[in-house]
Amino acid sequence: MSIRIAVAITLLAGPIAASSATPKKEEPKVALTAAQKQDYTKVIQPIFDANCISCHGAKKVKGKLRLDTLEATLKGGKNPTFTIGKPDDSMLLARVFLERTAGDVMPPKAERPLTKEQKEAIYAFIEGQPIPAELAKAALAATKTKK
Ligand code: HEC
Repeated sequence: MSIRIAVAITLLAGPIAASSATPKKEEPKVALTAAQKQDYTKVIQPIFDANCISCHGAKKVKGKLRLDTLEATLKGGKNPTFTIGKPDDSMLLARVFLERTAGDVMPPKAERPLTKEQKEAIYAFIEGQPIPAELAKAALAATKTKK
């Protein structure tokens, strides 16, 4: 086989192979990369577990929102939670960053607030950036300290 033909076959095979994988319907519009999924599991989910799932988990589902799995988080509640890469459009981020005196702040006023590092880690994640190791460490340390 000539080199030219071999190249042509390789070029053709690429797109055909890629298009044969039909995405599942429930898959989010912007699929997370493996690194983003890992950041979610290692850093974001533990923050939600410590500060959110008492009201947004299996037992209570406030605002129709569950934050106990990546799938549920991406699905959103009454409103969408966030799209990776669009931090300015994120309802979840907006409410987490509200002043502690605001009526809509999450977690609610009476609850343990998120630390600056926890908020920044969530911000980085939603921005689509890798969460810096130091920030991840500080954010995680805060999930382990009691009220
Ligand atoms: C003590 C209970 C409680 C905790 C803890 C809590 N929430 Fe909520 N959350 C609520 C209630 C009640 C609502 C529904 C009313 C509203 O929208 O304010 C809500 C609504 C929301 C909504 C809007 C849902 C929608 O689609 O309208 C978001 C986003 C949210 N919470 C995020 C969080 C995050 C993130 C945390 C943890 C950092 C958290 N909440 C912790 C009680 C809680």
